[in-house]
Amino acid sequence: MRLYPVNQDIAGLDCDAIIVNLFEGVTSPGGATGAVDRALGGLISRLSERGEIKGKLNETTVIYTDQIPARKVVVVGLGPAGQFNLERARQAAGSAIRAAGKGGTRVVGTIVHGAGTGGLEPAACARALAEGTILASYRYEDLKSEKSQTRVEELIVAERDRDKCPEVAAGLERGTIMARATNFARDLVNSPANHMTPTHLAEAARALACELELECTVLERADMERLGMGALLGVAQGSLQPPKLIVLRYHGAPGAEWLALAGKGLTFDSGGLSLKPADGMENMKSDMAGGAAVLGAMQAIGKLRPRVNLVAIVACTENLPSGSALKPGDVVRAMTGKTIEIVSTDAEGRLILADAVGYAVSQGATRVVDVATLTGACGVALGGGFYSGLVANCDRLASRILEAAGRAGERVWRFPSDPDYQELYKSDVADIKNVGGRLGGAITGGMIIGEFAGSIPWAHLDIAPTSFAQKEKPYQPKGATGVAVRTLVELVL
Ligand code: BES
Ligand code: MN
Ligand code: ZN
Repeated sequence: MRLYPVNQDIAGLDCDAIIVNLFEGVTSPGGATGAVDRALGGLISRLSERGEIKGKLNETTVIYTDQIPARKVVVVGLGPAGQFNLERARQAAGSAIRAAGKGGTRVVGTIVHGAGTGGLEPAACARALAEGTILASYRYEDLKSEKSQTRVEELIVAERDRDKCPEVAAGLERGTIMARATNFARDLVNSPANHMTPTHLAEAARALACELELECTVLERADMERLGMGALLGVAQGSLQPPKLIVLRYHGAPGAEWLALAGKGLTFDSGGLSLKPADGMENMKSDMAGGAAVLGAMQAIGKLRPRVNLVAIVACTENLPSGSALKPGDVVRAMTGKTIEIVSTDAEGRLILADAVGYAVSQGATRVVDVATLTGACGVALGGGFYSGLVANCDRLASRILEAAGRAGERVWRFPSDPDYQELYKSDVADIKNVGGRLGGAITGGMIIGEFAGSIPWAHLDIAPTSFAQKEKPYQPKGATGVAVRTLVELVL
């Protein structure tokens, strides 16, 4: 979809459909909606006086007309004016484009929702508009024989104030980059495990690196053996698919420090010998969502080219039961030399991240953030589909992540991680064990990864509750969400 601003009145726009908006309780609209209302002979006002249009958030009303060039007018509700914010702008944009896009619509005109609202910057509103529009239009249909017939190809953003046009253009561009990076991650996650093996994921990373001039290295099993990555290799030994450790480097600030982003790229998690129940196991193709988020973030960074140094590390393997698989009670030695007793082979994410994080430190990273669909316990604590969990050994890094999530419009909640919890994952036979028990499982799961970051600032995002949606939302279809891409990009910026 192409998005661009024009310095023009929306009522006169020559396109298939236009989108205008209404705050809740407003019966005589002003601004652009008012202009369209007048062009329609006051129809929008009459509909709202009669209570047909209430202006509730995400309410959409479609009006067909021959009084203006556009045949179709979508009025989207913004909710109460006093409660309006950028998240609501994103949602309204998503609801509106879905309503507008039905029935062969190719070119849509819209205004920037909330640009006239007190306190909100035009650039930020335009960004939210682009994000909501592109994220809501996402569909995964690579494997369907019949693709959807029509897709909106253009979004023309009508801005009457010429002075605001450059800001609107910049916001649209930033939002487009953010949303495309998120959709890129969604595609990787939605792709079934037989299509998205570690080898395929590594190929996708190589293609990305090539397109955006990032440096790409993929460590093979032999490299991992040479480096002593016994934890990652241990998980991989049950699978016929060769493991891959993807390393992407973006060098934007010569001489400056390196931030590492480490992702869990578990392309299918059966649990291994500690086999998961069959119910819902098909969704475990999404266990590489952390890795996908890191790759999505690298796509956006590669386009935005900020002055930072960044190394992305995605540990990729399957977790399967077989005659060669890890067994409960086995002990593996991670790259850092720490030994780990395997209590459950289903707690494999922390094992592969132990070596990804260990590798990041060995490469000279001075800060590391890992992203993983790590624990069911995170959803038990925070609810499904609302917040991602955060565990960190550094308050400063943790607050930067919370702030970045706020700017990105994603929700993150920090867990405690006092040293007392370490007691829970002490082992009788090894340095640590890979499970700290059922209670506080999201905390101990995260802290076990932190054991491999040495003394550098480290933070861990648990996206198990947020990475794969069972229900659709205004700008989120069912399935992969692409969560954490936007937060990581904001953090890096
Ligand atoms: N990939 C799972 C976590 C998960 C669960 C992600 C549900 C998405 C939805 C992870 O590898 C796992 O199996 N964790 C175990 C840890 C336990 C054995 C300590 C869990 O949460 O049950
Ligand atoms: Mn598991
Ligand atoms: Zn897993």
